[in-house]
Amino acid sequence: MTHGTHPFDALMDITTRPPTVFVRGEGSWLWDDKGKRYLDFIQGWAVNCLGHSPPDVVEALAAQARLLLTPSPAFYNAPSLKLAKALVDRSCFDQVFFTNSGAEANEGAIKLARKYGALHRNGAYEIITFEGAFHGRTLATMSASGKKAFEPLFEPKVSGFPKARLNDLASVKRLISDKTIGVMLEPIQGEAGVWPATDQFLRDLRTLTQEHGLLLIFDEIQTGMGRTGKLFHYEHAGIEPDIMTLGKGIGGGVPLAALLATEAASCFEHGDQGGTFNGNPLMCAAGLAVLQKVGAPDFLKSVVDTGLFLESELQRISARHGLGEVRGKGLLLALDLKMPIGASIVAQALEDGVLLNSPQLDALRFMPALNINRDEITGMIDCLDAILTRMGAARRVA
Ligand SMILES: Cc1ncc(COP(=O)(O)O)c(C=O)c1O
Repeated sequence: MTHGTHPFDALMDITTRPPTVFVRGEGSWLWDDKGKRYLDFIQGWAVNCLGHSPPDVVEALAAQARLLLTPSPAFYNAPSLKLAKALVDRSCFDQVFFTNSGAEANEGAIKLARKYGALHRNGAYEIITFEGAFHGRTLATMSASGKKAFEPLFEPKVSGFPKARLNDLASVKRLISDKTIGVMLEPIQGEAGVWPATDQFLRDLRTLTQEHGLLLIFDEIQTGMGRTGKLFHYEHAGIEPDIMTLGKGIGGGVPLAALLATEAASCFEHGDQGGTFNGNPLMCAAGLAVLQKVGAPDFLKSVVDTGLFLESELQRISARHGLGEVRGKGLLLALDLKMPIGASIVAQALEDGVLLNSPQLDALRFMPALNINRDEITGMIDCLDAILTRMGAARRVA
C-alpha cells in the first residue's frame, strides 16, 4: 500500500497500522504529516516517560553525540559507568548490564538465572512464569510469556518455563521442583490488560523463593522508572527481588534497557554475555537525563497525584456509562469496558485526535507521559466520554 508519498510496502507487514505517519512530537502531543495534532496516551507504549522529545533528553543526546558515539563494548565509557552507579545507588541491586530492548534484558535475566542454577543449584534451569505474562519477542522471552496468541507460534519453544497463575501462591508452590531456579513476573501484567499482582502476593513470593533458595526476578520494563509512582514497583511491596529488568521509560524514547542483579545473583563470567551496542554512551547519556528528572522525589509525588486524578476521572466515566473497574497504579491504568468495544473506541479516538490503546478487546490501557497535565487528561476524558455517549446511543437505536 502506498499512501501519498509513503512507500508502506517497503516495511515488513507485522501488524495492522492506520495510514497515519507521525513527523513530530512535543510533550503529550504528536503531529502527523498532514499537520493534524493528537493527544498521546500511548507514548510509545509507556516509553516516553517525559513526553515526546523532552528537552533534557534531547540536549543530553546532542551533547553526547558531539563527544563520543561508541568506543566499542570492549572499553569502558563514562555515561554507562555513571548510569550504572546511579541505578545501583537508587535500588537494591549491585550491578547492571545495559541492553537495547526489554526482550534482550529479559533474555539476559533468564541466562543469568540459568548460570546461577549451573553454579549453585546442580544445573536447575526452570523459571516459573505466569499465565498472561508478556516478557518480549525473542524465542526465550516468548516462551517465558504466558500470552495465549504466542502458544502456536515458532515451535519448538524454549523449554523450562512452567506457568503459574498470578496472585495464586499455591499454583507457584505446585510447580517448584529440584529443576526450579527462579520465579519471574511483571508486578503489573501490562500487555495482558493491566492486571496487578497484590503487594501481599509479591511478599509471599519473596518468602517462598527465599525458603527454596530460588531467585525472584521482577520484569519492571513497563512498571519501572516511576510509572507506578515509585521509582521501581517492588518498593510498593517493601521487598527486594534478586534480579530486575528495566526498559521502555529508562531511555525516555531511545532504545535502552537494563538487567540489574544483587551481588549474590550477579554471576556472569567472561564470555557469558555481551553485545555490540550494549551500554553505548549515547543511550546511557539519555538514561542519565531521564533518571535525574524521574528520580526526583517531587516528580514521583506528582506521578502519584496525577495518577489518582486520572483514576478518579476514569471511575467517573465508568459510572456514567455503566462500565467496569479501573485497575492499575500510578500512570499505568486500565478501564474495564465489560464489552469487546476497545478496538472501536481506539479507532474513533484516533479520528478525534486522541491516541488510546486497547491491549485486550474489553479494556483500554492508559500510559501517558508521567508529566502530563490535568488539562490534557481532561481533554482525553472529554473525548472518551463523547465516544461512549455516541456508542451508547447507537446501541439503543440498534
Ligand atoms: C513487561 C514487559 N516486558 C518486556 C517487554 C519487551 O520489551 P521490548 O519491546 O523493549 O523488547 C515489554 C514490552 O512491551 C513489556 O511490557
